[in-house]
Amino acid sequence: MQSAAMIAQTISLNFPQIDLAGDCYPQPSFLQTQKRLQTLVQKYLRSDTLGDRLSDLPTQFSTPQPRPWKRLDWQNVDASQIIGIDPLVFLAILAGSADTEEPIRGYTQTSRQYLEPLHPAMARFVGGTVDDQDTLIELGLWEKEERQHAPALQKLYTQLTGLKLRLLTHTPRPHQPTGNVRDDLYHHGLHRIATEYGATCLYLWLMAHSTGSLQAVLEELLIDEINHMTKFWGFGRWLFPETSGLKVLQTLSHSALQKLWKQDQHSSLFHTLRRMTQVLHWEAWSWSNRVSFVWTFVIALQQIQIWHKTLTPEYLQELFGDRPPNKTHHHSNLELDSVHPVGAQGPAPLRR
Ligand SMILES: [Fe+2]
Ligand SMILES: [Fe+2]
Repeated sequence: MQSAAMIAQTISLNFPQIDLAGDCYPQPSFLQTQKRLQTLVQKYLRSDTLGDRLSDLPTQFSTPQPRPWKRLDWQNVDASQIIGIDPLVFLAILAGSADTEEPIRGYTQTSRQYLEPLHPAMARFVGGTVDDQDTLIELGLWEKEERQHAPALQKLYTQLTGLKLRLLTHTPRPHQPTGNVRDDLYHHGLHRIATEYGATCLYLWLMAHSTGSLQAVLEELLIDEINHMTKFWGFGRWLFPETSGLKVLQTLSHSALQKLWKQDQHSSLFHTLRRMTQVLHWEAWSWSNRVSFVWTFVIALQQIQIWHKTLTPEYLQELFGDRPPNKTHHHSNLELDSVHPVGAQGPAPLRR
């Protein structure tokens, strides 16, 4: 029989006093969780870290290199590492996150189609390259990194519960060109940045509610999401210098309103947010969990703003060169491609 001292020792072994989110408590108060969130945001969203991730993008255009993950201690992932939240709710969130991570192939191919007419190098970064039969012949770096996320979350789920997690299947929004490649990319890109930002906040929040080996796995997902969010954000800032916080809000609220009126409108942030709160089982969350979750989005955005201010036109020009012209003139291949919509798996636009 284990003595009380041995049990206490086991608990303290499983329970680091300091982890990736700073001070760690088996039963943190609301304020202690806030403190952990603040620590995480300041640590992972530092301006120089984000600057480094963006300046890496031109290198990834020429020599794409996926970031290797640290060695993870899967065997030691354990339900006692879930803190400050009902473990069942935490598990439901893990399952919901795994569902939103898929189907990555669909996401990357839609994004590639929006990017190809304007910026082939970025199109290759997100969605790889296809041959003239539209068969994927090389994976994009974004896909290579993202496709590890759903399996990692499934593995965590199994490690924590002993059960297999089957993912819900859903179809990604297809490429729906309107004829203006620049506007289309703006809307699509905004949505992509919003989802990467959402994933960043979600994994930050999950890291505040976990510790030990469980938290270490979530850290790898977080670093990937931050990397992608930063690259998409900075690239978008370069390509659409005329945009502003106000214009972003207008665009997002416009598509939210459209969604309210037109049930078939499939591409709004509103749709994503609603789906996200459904799959994450928001209704089962405690009020303190809800408040801290929303608060994470606020403090993360504040921190990202510090880096955002460093994105001057001169700096972005130095990084990415001249902006490509908008190709909406008549009788070009692009115009023809744009008038005949192609599905997510449809033929790639013809160029040159
Ligand atoms: Fe992801
Ligand atoms: Fe992502």
